[in-house]
Amino acid sequence: MRKKILKDMDDLCAEAAHDLTRIISTAIDQRGEAHIFLAGGSTPRRLYRFLATSNVGQTIPWGKVHIYFGDERNVPADDPDCNYNMANQSLLKSISVDPTRIHRIQGELPAAEAALAYNNKLKYCLPFDVEGNPNPDLVILGLGADGHVASLFPDTDILDNTSDYVASVWVEKLRTNRISITYPVINGANNVWLFVSGEAKRDIVDKIFNYHTPGRYPAERVNPIGHLTWYLDEAAAYRIDR
Ligand code: 6PG
Repeated sequence: MRKKILKDMDDLCAEAAHDLTRIISTAIDQRGEAHIFLAGGSTPRRLYRFLATSNVGQTIPWGKVHIYFGDERNVPADDPDCNYNMANQSLLKSISVDPTRIHRIQGELPAAEAALAYNNKLKYCLPFDVEGNPNPDLVILGLGADGHVASLFPDTDILDNTSDYVASVWVEKLRTNRISITYPVINGANNVWLFVSGEAKRDIVDKIFNYHTPGRYPAERVNPIGHLTWYLDEAAAYRIDR
């Protein structure tokens, strides 16, 4: 596990963009294309906007990148709450991606149907390792103040689902259904990022790093076969060691 603590979001996005270029070029060298999962949320959105407007972001060979979503709200693609819509507005419409390689979750469907459809899409599109585990090149995750990642919220049954790659989940605190990838997809990745910023995440970051209680928070069960990197600005990392 690596921690990258940078002064502010601009520096954090610049560091992550540089690392993304390396991950994608390594994947293309090794498998001819890259498979990356985007997260929802305001902190990942800052990275997408940086990629859309920076030279480093524009020089990535996006045409060789398959883009997936770690989770989705149970809403249509044009809904302001839709993660695909957010990523499209902040990044995808500004880069030369191959539209056939953008794999959105069909949040407009009933949640269980959307999850089954996406599960099948991942089975068809993702690379798998020799043990038959899903092996994406990168999964980008945000972190909720309650320690959730993707839509893996505390005290929900999806946390224990190891038989599906994607599942629907009722999130009582939000009074809504979500569709999310499960730990087998996250933990099969060559790279997983926790992309976290702001004073509001200071407490959960402190709890995870300084009072490690294995499995207490969903983020603590992120344990990929590849590299796990935390990208934190100083505000979020205020109480942890560098
Ligand atoms: C979502 C995300 C969710 C998000 C975190 C962090 O659909 O909202 O997948 O997991 O990444 O809640 O969001 P913020 O960066 O906005 O706090």
